[in-house]
Amino acid sequence: MASIWSSQSFWTAVALLATASVGAAHDSISNQVSLGICRKATPGLEFAVCAQSGGRTAHITTDGSAVVGTSNGIWSRTTPCYKNITDNTEFCVYTSESFAENHGITIMTSPSRAVQFSHIPAFADPETVRGVNRDIVYETEHGRRSDQPPLSYRVEAMPGKGYGVVATKYLNRGDLIMSTTASVVIDYALFESIPGEEVKRMQTIAVDSLPPLHHARFMNLSTHDATEGHEQIVTKILATNAFDIEVDNDDEYGYFVVFPEISRLNHDCRPNADYHFDHQTLTQHIHAVRPIAAGEEITVSYMDLIKPRKQRMDKLKHTWGFECSCSLCTQNRAMTKASDARIAQIRDLRDEFRDYTVTSRATPEMAELFISLYEQERLDAMLYEAYSYAAIEYNGDGEPWLATKYARLAIEAGLMSVGTYDVDVIEMRQLAADPWKHWSWMLRKSRRMQWGKKEVVKEERKVKTE
Ligand SMILES: *[C@@H]1O[C@H](CO)[C@@H](O)[C@H](O)[C@H]1NC(C)=O
Ligand SMILES: *[C@@H]1O[C@H](CO)[C@@H](O)[C@H](O)[C@H]1NC(C)=O
Repeated sequence: MASIWSSQSFWTAVALLATASVGAAHDSISNQVSLGICRKATPGLEFAVCAQSGGRTAHITTDGSAVVGTSNGIWSRTTPCYKNITDNTEFCVYTSESFAENHGITIMTSPSRAVQFSHIPAFADPETVRGVNRDIVYETEHGRRSDQPPLSYRVEAMPGKGYGVVATKYLNRGDLIMSTTASVVIDYALFESIPGEEVKRMQTIAVDSLPPLHHARFMNLSTHDATEGHEQIVTKILATNAFDIEVDNDDEYGYFVVFPEISRLNHDCRPNADYHFDHQTLTQHIHAVRPIAAGEEITVSYMDLIKPRKQRMDKLKHTWGFECSCSLCTQNRAMTKASDARIAQIRDLRDEFRDYTVTSRATPEMAELFISLYEQERLDAMLYEAYSYAAIEYNGDGEPWLATKYARLAIEAGLMSVGTYDVDVIEMRQLAADPWKHWSWMLRKSRRMQWGKKEVVKEERKVKTE
């Protein structure tokens, strides 16, 4: 799932706007190349990940020219395939049982995308996924391997919510709680070309191809309601537990992905943890976004958090079938009203920050209020967003040190919530490195001054003649 706000197109649009009217030569996205993404690209192959500079994706391109290789024996099984002769597409089930120290993965996609998958670091360089699935890979029939450090959480039955994840020790803000590689990956494109019944059949084969322990973990997930038959159970587990993973290229389909361990985390409207996906390693990371006490439940959010109570409750009921019972949904009327008022103001202010014309009323003081509203709302999982806007506003007003302060805060919070390859985090790193060279430098001030230029000139003349 991509973050609510950090769309590449958003910053690109801002950067373009800035370049267009201020005239500063700036190329915000493609300047960033040395992120160490291409450690071991396959020699002789113009690897899509390397061609893509920065950004948070291992860009899986559909550009046929990049696909000259084969999957190099990565897939231990590729069955079955479905060919649609009308739109000339083909989709297969690709399975690698040895992926990530024998954790295994199964991917339903087209043959060309399967080749691209096989070239991303997760497959091309097994070192990049070593130790990721700590909780699963080191588990034996007799429990955890003794040479492994204990986990900082356990899965427990929770009254009224099935299972949940509970911290077994105090966790600091920023602590990594778990990292898990994708288990079942389904290319959204196939839903358009394969009949529903066939999709279900292929999904079941995909899930059944996973190594035994991994398979058992998958089958143990919640189906949300009663089911009968293996195929129906698999379908319901997928529908209840999958995450949407977007790719940065708007023209391409994203993926529907299950991470069995992560699916155990319950929802909270003010979660204490957040997740982000790394396309290079097909890994989902969970970090604490505020201190978590031993014994406290670890939670994430399943949806956009900047919504008033009624909308939040409707969405949870409609999509996941539960009544929101988190503290924010159950507080008294006066508090709910105050919270909804803050959410409404957050939305209004955000519109102001996103307006880069001279008529925008955005100021650094407004950004301070914005941060305060996030804090009052306990939106720790989204603070990076508030800090990023503040950094841009201070820089736009010609305050390099306050801009740098907030850019640093945005990076610190962003690494937990969206990860190092996120376009916004990259943007903040550029700002912090040299605020004066960043496209936002004096953006607001110079626009507003240009707007008032005539007045200023008149004033000066007056002074001279006197
Ligand atoms: C083939 O794909 C098209 C859309 O691309 C779809 O309308 C059609 O139903 C598919 N054919 C079959 C047999 O599934
Ligand atoms: C299902 O998961 C729960 C929680 O981790 C565990 O206690 C239970 O033993 C699992 N059941 C099976 C059949 O694996």
